[in-house]
Amino acid sequence: MNLLFPSALVALVLLLSASIWAQNAAPKVTGKHAEANLSCFSCHNQSAPTQAAPQFSCILCHGLYKGTEREETIGRRKFKINVHDAHPGQLDCTICHTAHKPPKLYCNECHSFKVIVK
Ligand code: HEC
Ligand code: HEC
Ligand code: HEC
Ligand code: HEC
Repeated sequence: MNLLFPSALVALVLLLSASIWAQNAAPKVTGKHAEANLSCFSCHNQSAPTQAAPQFSCILCHGLYKGTEREETIGRRKFKINVHDAHPGQLDCTICHTAHKPPKLYCNECHSFKVIVK
């Protein structure tokens, strides 16, 4: 009998139950959107959403947000960079902004900018 097996099994069960728990945890409205009393419907256009919100809701309230320039480096050169207006063109807001999970700066798939997505 392999002694590693039981602990591996326990680890697997823990891992599975953790991911089931994560899926069952109901998404919440957080931060500024909670302060502004947004409902699920405000972004999802549905009161019992099951999928990601479409960006047209973001645009209804925020417009095509123009952003601001910040200094960042690419390699050894400094650039004034506006993440909302750069060479990848008009990107879906929710590629970077999220509501229930940590946001992610899409640009950093290739660059290493320091600016933080809210
Ligand atoms: C500010 C806009 C916003 C509000 C308000 C909001 N959501 Fe979302 N929701 C999103 C976005 C953007 C995504 C996709 C990214 C993410 O998961 O954060 C999403 C994803 C989801 C998903 C899919 C998760 C997945 O695994 O694909 C569910 C379910 C969901 N929201 C439920 C809700 C519920 C329930 C509420 C109300 C309590 C709510 N949302 C309020 C923007 C919003
Ligand atoms: C019903 C209107 C409404 C919708 C829909 C909405 N927002 Fe907002 N959002 C607000 C308000 C109000 C604030 C708080 C005031 C402000 O910062 O403009 C805010 C704040 C923000 C902020 C700043 C957060 C911070 O911590 O400073 C970001 C980023 C943002 N929204 C992105 C989004 C994205 C992306 C979506 C779509 C998934 C979205 N919003 C949908 C109204 C909305
Ligand atoms: C490439 C990633 C990316 C995309 C795509 C993106 N954003 Fe942002 N957004 C950011 C980052 C990073 C910040 C914080 C720095 C800044 O303000 O420039 C931000 C800030 C914001 C803010 C908050 C400004 C403040 O400080 O109150 C709003 C509102 C916002 N974005 C709306 C949008 C909307 C609407 C879209 C889609 C039309 C969008 N963003 C698309 C990365 C992104
Ligand atoms: C798929 C990879 C990729 C992604 C994603 C990407 N870039 Fe780039 N970017 C490049 C490459 C390649 C260059 C060429 C210059 C270099 O890397 O030395 C570049 C150059 C730039 C430059 C230098 C000036 C210019 O226009 O030539 C800026 C500014 C820039 N990127 C901003 C952004 C921003 C902002 C985002 C996110 C909205 C982004 N990039 C996303 C690959 C990418």
